Amino acid sequence: MQNLKIDGSRLWQSLMELARIGATEKGGVCRLALTDLDRQGRDLFVRWCREAGCTVSVDAIGNIFARRAGKDNSKPAIVTGSHLDSQPTGGKFDGAYGVMAGLEVVRTLNDLGIVTEAPIEIVAWTNEEGSRFSPAMVGSGVYAGVFALDEALAKKDIEGKSMGDELRRIGYAGKDRTSDRPVGAYFEAHIEQGPILEAEGKTIGVVTAAQGQRWYEITVTGQEAHAGPTPMPRRRDALVGSARMIDTVNRIGHRFAPLACATVGFVQVSPNSRNTIPGRVFFTVDFRHPVDATLSQMHEALHSEFRAIAEAAKVEVEIRDFWYFAPTPFAEDCVGAVREAAGRLGYAHRDIVSGAGHDAVYMAKVAPTGMIFVPCRDGISHNEVEDAAPADLTAGCNVLLHAMLERAKANP
Ligand code: GLV
Ligand code: MN
Ligand code: MN
Repeated sequence: MQNLKIDGSRLWQSLMELARIGATEKGGVCRLALTDLDRQGRDLFVRWCREAGCTVSVDAIGNIFARRAGKDNSKPAIVTGSHLDSQPTGGKFDGAYGVMAGLEVVRTLNDLGIVTEAPIEIVAWTNEEGSRFSPAMVGSGVYAGVFALDEALAKKDIEGKSMGDELRRIGYAGKDRTSDRPVGAYFEAHIEQGPILEAEGKTIGVVTAAQGQRWYEITVTGQEAHAGPTPMPRRRDALVGSARMIDTVNRIGHRFAPLACATVGFVQVSPNSRNTIPGRVFFTVDFRHPVDATLSQMHEALHSEFRAIAEAAKVEVEIRDFWYFAPTPFAEDCVGAVREAAGRLGYAHRDIVSGAGHDAVYMAKVAPTGMIFVPCRDGISHNEVEDAAPADLTAGCNVLLHAMLERAKANP
């Protein structure tokens, strides 16, 4: 049992085959949640799971669960997974790695004829990225009871299409009640998406916690007017006010350095015409920090500084506190199982806090949860050039196998 290893080349081949669905010219992936491409990715995953002997079910928010029976199926399942949706300019590994690593664990157990005490499940969560439908981690959030199912199904994309309609359209509006499945423990393997492991030459990140996040939706209203005849002092330019606010977001990030992160990633200018002074701007803010009290200070700074900027620029600002989750520690026993497996398998490892949000954050609310990070090249993610070494992906999957076996119990 101590020497069990997964098949690294099979894992790599599965990742590369999945990455063909939504492949971009620059070598990345665009597989936005609940698009036709997402459906193709889901279909491939479901086919592979069935071929591996799993029973597949889909819940009402489209989360896919593939179950490998154990000896005692009354025991809560030991679950692993991640997401198949991507950013618009995403990479091959963000999310896909965690799902394919789960599949590789099941395939390895099949090869070796190992039957675990508790059943094992692989899950592909719906809309983790929060790019097409916001916020992020919606499927796991519904599972964990953070979002009401109806609210989640009603979320709309930029074209006004709802998650519920899109789930039905792609054939993944399942019948199972979300949250009905007891989970004994949840593990998620993921690329780090940051530079720490690579810089320190470590193969495995033992994830102890995820930093907190606050997302905002900002609407700035000024007055549309002609770009020629309107004298500068008379203007109420929504874009000028927004530009100052966006700069302030960046300054707040620097003010609470080194651990704070602050990003404006989405901006809509209206009417977006060269010779009309912008009358309305909508933009988003993403704040992150591992310490909740500091995240609150950033929150206060945003509210007070945006109001001051709006007044000086003679525009109105509406600040919508859109999404929040507190810094989340993972379960000591799951973190310990990951650390112990990494050590036993001889991989250089270190403890690490996740900068990104993951479905594991919401799973931590309902089950003992742990995460495994592996390095990614130059620490780059949410980018088509995102890359990871096959040997590191293999190592992370081996750690996943051993951590899961420790929880699911198996006798040789
Ligand atoms: C998920 O990708 C996040 O924004 O952390
Ligand atoms: Mn991810
Ligand atoms: Mn992501």
